[in-house]
Amino acid sequence: MNKASKKRLEHAPQKARAKPPVTVLGLETSCDETAAAVVRVDAQGCGEILSNVVYSQVKEHAAFGGVVPEIAARAHVSRLDRLILAALEQAGLGWDEIDAVAATAGPGLIGGLMVGLMSGKAIALARRLPLVAVNHLEAHALSPMLSDPRVRPPYLLLLVSGGHTQLISVDDVGAYRRLGTTIDDALGEAFDKVAKMLGLGYPGGPVVERMAQKGDSQRFRFPRPMLGRKECHFSFSGLKTAVRTAILELGPDLGEQDKADICASFQQAVVETLADRVACACRRFREMHPEVKHPYLVLAGGVAANRAIRAALEEVAAAQGFALSVPPPALCTDNAAMVAYAGALKLLRGETAPLSVSARPRWPLDEKAEPAPFAGVKG
Ligand code: KG4
Ligand code: ZN
Repeated sequence: MNKASKKRLEHAPQKARAKPPVTVLGLETSCDETAAAVVRVDAQGCGEILSNVVYSQVKEHAAFGGVVPEIAARAHVSRLDRLILAALEQAGLGWDEIDAVAATAGPGLIGGLMVGLMSGKAIALARRLPLVAVNHLEAHALSPMLSDPRVRPPYLLLLVSGGHTQLISVDDVGAYRRLGTTIDDALGEAFDKVAKMLGLGYPGGPVVERMAQKGDSQRFRFPRPMLGRKECHFSFSGLKTAVRTAILELGPDLGEQDKADICASFQQAVVETLADRVACACRRFREMHPEVKHPYLVLAGGVAANRAIRAALEEVAAAQGFALSVPPPALCTDNAAMVAYAGALKLLRGETAPLSVSARPRWPLDEKAEPAPFAGVKG
């Protein structure tokens, strides 16, 4: 490789330092959603979603009861280019009106990450645009600012998805302190496993929530892990095992009402655990940020769609003197608008990536936090 082309590869092509407003194309391929979006961000950090296109691969993975990495990577390859064109078309913009391309570079499944990041690099090189490598967790963490302009750092974030359960103090864009994390299963994963054990299909969260409405939440006394602990961590594997034991004890005659009662009792245990752990984090956040008089608690991730959880956290927030802000479901679950938005905020700070940047399957938001088995795996 000659010197000139090496230089071109190592340094992302730059226009003059980006000035607001900036219009960014975002790409998301870290798990089982293939997504592209265009977002415009002004000098105050307010974002306008010009397009937000998502292809959910749920059907491709349903038969396996979970995400199959190889199938996910192939589906990203076959869909992403069309989604990018659809995102531009829906935004009514041509390539010349795009200021940068932002792609999720981690954490997540390596095959999928490579599809999105390589596409981002190709666009950056071909269109001579800056590239922004976005941390998927950072995109989730900043998404409440996109949907609610009242939310500005510092704020407290509960991120609950299929891959993560974390409590984070968002001190600023790029400055995150983890207050708590799951030490084993992620909460969405626990919902999915309970659904699988009961033969309710994938993804499990929505169907467990529906069944729970018809069930008796007091019939089974499942454990409330970590309740009252000083650190704000979570653990869900014991709860999952307790559900498995209850199913085995009921034996082959497990009926629809039994299933509903198990779902309701499981969800009740989850709600009480979350309420306790979030209250713990609210207290920690207050100690860390005495200057914040009207703090926000914000939710992100697919599990935030659960109405029983939202209602419980509304109460916790009120009791702790926090306001609750929950992005609409389309911004809670994986999407590219949050990637474009995080990318735009980083672009305005001059944080672009060289074209030699690598995908990172593990990429914790708070690099200083103690490693935990599931911190920084997938979001
Ligand atoms: O954030 P997300 O779309 O994808 C990632 O995991 O990155 O979250 C998906 C997770 C799945 O585990 C799904 O079962 C869970 O969110 N989920 C729910 C609900 N809707 C989705 N969990 C509980 N209640 C729901 N209504
Ligand atoms: Zn996610």
